[in-house]
Amino acid sequence: MKPEVLQLSPILIPHVLEQLQTLYTVHPYYQQADKAAYLREVGANVRGVVTGGHTGITREVMAQLPRLEVVAVNGVGTDAVDLAYARDRGIHVTATLGALTEDVADLAIGLLISVCRGLCTSDRYVRSGQWATTATPLVPLPLARQVSGLRVGIVGMGRVGRAVATRAAAFGCPISYTDLRAMDDVPHTFVADLLELARGSDALIVAAAADKAEGLIDAAVLAALGAEGYLINVARGRLVNEPDLLAALQVGTIAGAGLDVFVDEPRVPESLFARENVVLQPHRASATVQTRTRMGEMVLVSLADALAGKVPANSVTA
Ligand code: 8YV
Repeated sequence: MKPEVLQLSPILIPHVLEQLQTLYTVHPYYQQADKAAYLREVGANVRGVVTGGHTGITREVMAQLPRLEVVAVNGVGTDAVDLAYARDRGIHVTATLGALTEDVADLAIGLLISVCRGLCTSDRYVRSGQWATTATPLVPLPLARQVSGLRVGIVGMGRVGRAVATRAAAFGCPISYTDLRAMDDVPHTFVADLLELARGSDALIVAAAADKAEGLIDAAVLAALGAEGYLINVARGRLVNEPDLLAALQVGTIAGAGLDVFVDEPRVPESLFARENVVLQPHRASATVQTRTRMGEMVLVSLADALAGKVPANSVTA
């Protein structure tokens, strides 16, 4: 009998999904209308869970899986999983550590360039036919903000923060960062105080883990970033106090924002939709074929290892 696996989020790479379905009896929980009833029906024999970083798994769902041995997160964030509860029950929680670093950093820089240079606004201007019908040879769009040389402040100098720093350095940007402590192996300027970091930055890039830092970027930090400053978030929506951010954009406390993540995805505050100084993405930082393939393959290895009684290399609970 094949081990049973509960699937909480889609896998978009065909060969990974095929492999998953070949090796396991996969219960597609995420496709069910009545999830509670489905869980009652299939929960008893489930030994593995596959889920996304943002989706995670609630303690309540885990509690209904008495034979659960592993939660394989198809993502790097494990903040949506109750790790203490999993540890208590001896359940491995694995993440695709290192698999999506480059893509997330690429998107952070992409969002920064996009918001500073008004790429989406300009795209809409051309696409809508306005350029072709503008009477004057002058494009009536405001001049943009130069990206090269921006003072970049990075919040969270983990894998993604470091990869963002490498990219920003190539644009001639002086880089400072904050984290729980200074890193010996990072050549950039450590600033312990987030307000001070924001004050000295033209762009604040949020790349921190979201386990304990809810609402970190609040009205005071945004005020410190200032009217010429940009906020980029590729980590988790709840690291930013969203009402404070909306207010800051509304009154011009900051110059703009590039956001891949939101507090209550997929619901994005509608007041952002009409803002030309904001670039929005539907949580897509790791959504490339190459990265999702790597992530999916890591999920398969983690599941196989845990269900064979081994400690998975990417277990965060071991
Ligand atoms: C993914 C993420 O979109 O890695 C994470 O923690 O949030 C994202 O990379 C998600 O995990 C896809 O399942």
